[in-house]
Amino acid sequence: MSTVKTYAIIGGTSGMGFALAQQLVARGDRVLIGGRSPEKAEAAAQKLGPLATARTVDARERASIAAFFEGSGPLAGLFTPGSVNHSVSFREDSQEAAEAVFKAKFWGQYWTVHAALPHLAPDAAVVLMSGAASVRPIGAPAYAACNAAVEGLARALALELAPIRVNCVSPGTIDSELWRNKPPEVFKAVGEMWEKLTLNRRFGTVAEAAGAALFLLDNGNMSGSTIYVDGGYTLR
Ligand SMILES: NC(=O)c1ccc[n+]([C@@H]2O[C@H](COP(=O)([O-])OP(=O)(O)OC[C@H]3O[C@@H](n4cnc5c(N)ncnc54)[C@H](OP(=O)(O)O)[C@@H]3O)[C@@H](O)[C@H]2O)c1
Repeated sequence: MSTVKTYAIIGGTSGMGFALAQQLVARGDRVLIGGRSPEKAEAAAQKLGPLATARTVDARERASIAAFFEGSGPLAGLFTPGSVNHSVSFREDSQEAAEAVFKAKFWGQYWTVHAALPHLAPDAAVVLMSGAASVRPIGAPAYAACNAAVEGLARALALELAPIRVNCVSPGTIDSELWRNKPPEVFKAVGEMWEKLTLNRRFGTVAEAAGAALFLLDNGNMSGSTIYVDGGYTLR
């Protein structure tokens, strides 16, 4: 009987999700990765090689999430970083933008776990994605509140879904495509700010954040926890 395990990653076509896919494939596991862009998904699967399958998915749409998981089980684990960030202040925010962050990041992960359930192995592990703004916000209240909600969701799901384990990764600022795709002056300003706010005086790497997700997938004694991979930003 094959011992190769399969892990699903919505948001696995770049950034921290892709870094986790690389770490899983490197040890011989299979990955099912998803993102909205078919081109990105195809390119990511090519880079990962024959242990990877890519499908397009939009975590804001329940039908799309259901189609992503079709025929995928049994899955040993699930990671859900498929979202974007949101940095608008309370006074500047529009209803549409403030609610969009919850639609993608909170409800996206909520309904992803729901749709994944029939495809998860009985001892599977789920890792949700929040962000250290949950406990130390820099403006952007909708984003801070959304991250805190995701961390609460991880605790509540851990209770309800046991023995399936549910945990959360809460990174500080990570040097990923999310920042690299912004104008260079924005990337530089964020880097300088982050140097002042952290103890290690640098961005985190996608490999470091993915390493935390891998630990939560693997460690059978972790359930309902949030790991802050943030260079001491939140000092928890
Ligand atoms: N980077 C940071 O500093 C940082 C810090 C704290 C928390 N986070 C959180 O971590 C998550 C990922 O960040 P990252 O830095 O790894 O970003 P990234 O490099 O931009 O990767 C995001 C991934 O999610 C996919 N994605 C985005 N929206 C999606 C949607 N609606 N449905 C399905 N897939 C979607 C992207 O592909 P497509 O674009 O093709 O959809 C891509 O695969 C985000 O939720 C972000 O809020 C990031």
